[in-house]
Amino acid sequence: MIRDSASSSAEDEPETTITVALGERSYPIVIGEDLISATGRWISATVPNARCAIVSDKTVAALHLAPLKASLDEAKLYLGEAIVTPGEASKSFPVLATLSERLLELGVERGDCVVAFGGGVVGDLAGFAASILRRGVRLVQIPTTLLAQVDSSVGGKTGIDMPQGKNLIGAFYQPALVLADTNVLDTLTPRDFRCGYAEVAKYGLLGDAEFFAWLEQDWSDIFTGLGGARRRAIETSCRAKGAVVAEDEREESGARALLNLGHTFGHALEAYAGYSDRLLHGEAIAIGMRLAFTFSFEQGLCPADDAARVKRHFEAVGLPTKIADLLGEIPTAEQLLRLMAQDKKVKGGKLVLILVRGVGAAFVEPDIDPARLTQFLEKECKGR
Ligand SMILES: NC(=O)c1ccc[n+]([C@@H]2O[C@H](COP(=O)([O-])OP(=O)(O)OC[C@H]3O[C@@H](n4cnc5c(N)ncnc54)[C@H](O)[C@@H]3O)[C@@H](O)[C@H]2O)c1
Ligand SMILES: [Zn+2]
Repeated sequence: MIRDSASSSAEDEPETTITVALGERSYPIVIGEDLISATGRWISATVPNARCAIVSDKTVAALHLAPLKASLDEAKLYLGEAIVTPGEASKSFPVLATLSERLLELGVERGDCVVAFGGGVVGDLAGFAASILRRGVRLVQIPTTLLAQVDSSVGGKTGIDMPQGKNLIGAFYQPALVLADTNVLDTLTPRDFRCGYAEVAKYGLLGDAEFFAWLEQDWSDIFTGLGGARRRAIETSCRAKGAVVAEDEREESGARALLNLGHTFGHALEAYAGYSDRLLHGEAIAIGMRLAFTFSFEQGLCPADDAARVKRHFEAVGLPTKIADLLGEIPTAEQLLRLMAQDKKVKGGKLVLILVRGVGAAFVEPDIDPARLTQFLEKECKGR
């Protein structure tokens, strides 16, 4: 990771630029207000002469497409747009096929670029389309959800879902540029904003105690967009994710593993709830992170106060913290354990979990004692 320009201490700078250091494939993440209306300028500077096809979803297009289109038009880079239906169902082969046809119709050539303008769904789908179109055209990510700005647009994972599971077909494909416009988040639903925030808090909980302490104090400014809080939160998160990606681009060395804090519990809960509105990803991992902290405390690994802080903070923000917070029927410990065993974090029959020694101190525990975990989950599923 390279620190390029402004940092949180220089909020008077118009934007902050971070570089994800990947040799020839290094790319800048630019974070600031009203960046969308300057897209043409940023693309001309980063990928000169690339014409742009925008991929977005109906909701984002209705709210924010006009200034993006105008900026690309002004720079004489605008080819057209492809708009998909919002929601996870668009990460599918049929939608990928229609989208690819549309991109070819728009005349996207080898030197041109696909602009993914939306949340994680659009980023994953459009990113994968860019990776296979004409054996790879350039990709610019303009993430419009908090989750996409701090997580999915950085790191180069792209793909679609299959009946057998999520994200099973895809490619590692790094963008040429990421533009994170902090104002675009103003139109997110509070629920979607909170879900992205759970990933922001994750970076503090896994490796940056000072950041988490700041979040505990100033979180509401991130939600309202007051001062430079939103930019600082996104910047810190992108630096953390970018550093891990630079170290372990293709998830080979294990350095990316800590990013899964709360995710093995969370994925099991999401699967139990049928990947539905009953429990969104950010909500599932908020519960998952609280479980990881409480389990660590009960194993004598983490101070009680640190576990209590996590619960207190998520409650303050309005995120769920208990399995019992799930609307409707609640899983049994046995059901959850079975779902956890299906998660990709199981190696050679052993369950790997990310545990903590405290706030900001996560580590990989490669061999969880199933009896202890069962005992723990039995208490949790009874609704404590
Ligand atoms: N590639 C990765 O590394 C990675 C990492 C994490 C998650 N993901 C993927 O990301 C997806 C989830 O992303 P998401 O939470 O952004 O979901 P999403 O893309 O479905 O967006 C959530 C909702 O917000 C709407 N929306 C987007 N921007 C908006 C805005 N500015 N104002 C108002 N509404 C807006 C969308 O239309 C959608 O209805 C999942 O498919 C997940 O697998 C990928
Ligand atoms: Zn996540």
